[in-house]
Amino acid sequence: MSLGSLRQRFTALGPWLESRLGLAGLWAVARKKDVPVHRHTLWYYLGGMTLFLFVIQIGTGVLLLFYYRPSAEEAFESVQFLMAEVQFGWLIRSIHAWAANLMIFTLFLHFFSALLLRAYRAPRELTWLSGMGLLGLALGFGFTGYLLPWNELAYFATRVGTQIVGVVPVAGDFFLRVLRGGEEVSGATLTRFYAIHVALLPASGLAIVGLHLYLVQKHGMSVPPGVERSGTALPRMRFFPNFLLRDLVGWLAALAILAALAAFLPAELGKKADPFTSAPAGIRPEWYFMFMFQTLKLLPAHILGLEGEMVGVVGFGLAAVFLLVLPFVDRPGQGGRLQPVFTWIGIGIIVFVIVLTYIGYTVSPTK
Ligand code: HEM
Repeated sequence: MSLGSLRQRFTALGPWLESRLGLAGLWAVARKKDVPVHRHTLWYYLGGMTLFLFVIQIGTGVLLLFYYRPSAEEAFESVQFLMAEVQFGWLIRSIHAWAANLMIFTLFLHFFSALLLRAYRAPRELTWLSGMGLLGLALGFGFTGYLLPWNELAYFATRVGTQIVGVVPVAGDFFLRVLRGGEEVSGATLTRFYAIHVALLPASGLAIVGLHLYLVQKHGMSVPPGVERSGTALPRMRFFPNFLLRDLVGWLAALAILAALAAFLPAELGKKADPFTSAPAGIRPEWYFMFMFQTLKLLPAHILGLEGEMVGVVGFGLAAVFLLVLPFVDRPGQGGRLQPVFTWIGIGIIVFVIVLTYIGYTVSPTK
């Protein structure tokens, strides 16, 4: 085939694909999308950063599946083999572990910024609700993934974590048995956590991320109330390619940080879990559960005749319900002015999470 006819075929490929895929519409949407530029624009990068880390999790997670074996007899050994024998196995596992932490960190920042900038206001209620769903799923990913290497620390932390779920009034015992697959944390728990971690959560996660992104696309980026009030017309940046290229710079930086963390501080494995030994010292949850763990620890044994731990768990449940209904209760007051009380509640939640996490690691560390 001559060079000329090859070129002709390539030129014909465009219309051929377009008539089958119809992507010109998408292209038009991408060209039209833009982002308002103001003093809070930086916060708009956090959702994209979380998305990037989520994609890394899916990619590295699938690679880990090539070697991981989900049973109490083999899980620990399969991870040990992966770390010691498989080429770059340690790297993939370490990136998976670090990216999980970074993803939850950027997710918290994204959540806090949406809370304080009140990005949940109409018409973005469903964007917020889908985000809350993703927050729940991310915590679920962390909780279930922690057990999978079947090491001592993970085993006992899961015992404590599931026991806290058991404190939920009325249905607690049922939840505890559903999660554990029996009365105790055992191989059955591992199989369940595995199914939840690699099938249930990714499938629902991808679906909800899809909805979240669709809604972001549909409504565009919100302008924070403070900026809106100033009344000045805002400059806008084209999403494609200007904003996306800035996103890319952030993603490259994240990749460099991830590679450095994985290389210099690879994920540890510790000792294989032995259900018949007593819990070792220093059992504690992942950092993102620390504020809840610490709150429950600080509560007195009994509050108004009720079990202190149960009051704490119910309190967290009510806080979650409050966050879910927030877009529907934070309505403008008289004259269309926003009520400052919700900003203070938002600040209160953030300070609470930070202070309790700090106390958990410093004032009363679990030794
Ligand atoms: C895996 C988790 C998540 C991913 C991948 C994700 C992704 C994104 C992306 C790419 C955007 C557009 C850019 C931006 O504003 O940063 C966005 C916007 C938004 N997200 Fe998320 N998000 C996640 C979780 C959450 C959570 C936990 C919440 C809060 C409950 C939330 C609430 C919102 C809201 C309200 C917007 C609209 C912001 C605005 O219009 O100003 N998202 N998200």
